[in-house]
Amino acid sequence: MKRMIELTVNGDSHTAIIDARETLLDSLRYKLDFMGPKEGCGNGNCGACTVELNGQLVNSCLVLSLEAEGAEIKTVEGVAAGDQLHPVQRAFIDNAGLQCGFCTPGFIMSAKALLERNPNPSEAEIRLAISGNLCRCTGYDKIVKAIQAASQALSRAA
Ligand code: FES
Ligand code: FES
Repeated sequence: MKRMIELTVNGDSHTAIIDARETLLDSLRYKLDFMGPKEGCGNGNCGACTVELNGQLVNSCLVLSLEAEGAEIKTVEGVAAGDQLHPVQRAFIDNAGLQCGFCTPGFIMSAKALLERNPNPSEAEIRLAISGNLCRCTGYDKIVKAIQAASQALSRAA
């Protein structure tokens, strides 16, 4: 069954005709052209599809688009302020926190959410916060270092 729904993504309202069984990830990517969230596994294991839904991180491959109707969705496309990268994005680049970049949108969303609720996390807290995100090529040490650098940059800017 097809249905037209309204989704608010990064502050803008969009309409899409969706299948009742369609995931939020598929609607974002293939109906609305938000290609940041990625499908790594499609079953909630890799975190590459992470977005914010009403302020909570979710695996968008596990959310039906119908469930997201009327919610505030944030994707990695909404993290930078225009041309200005978010400090978390800058820190991933400066600290080589990515290689192929497939997992990076998910890590950015998880790291940003962590630093918003806990600006000075310990290494253990960082590792816990990204435990739902898998990276198959960078290794986690540089990602942790990038998040620590972002935390320091945000503290300096405060
Ligand atoms: S694609 Fe959603 S968790 Fe892997
Ligand atoms: S940078 Fe390639 S999977 Fe993480």
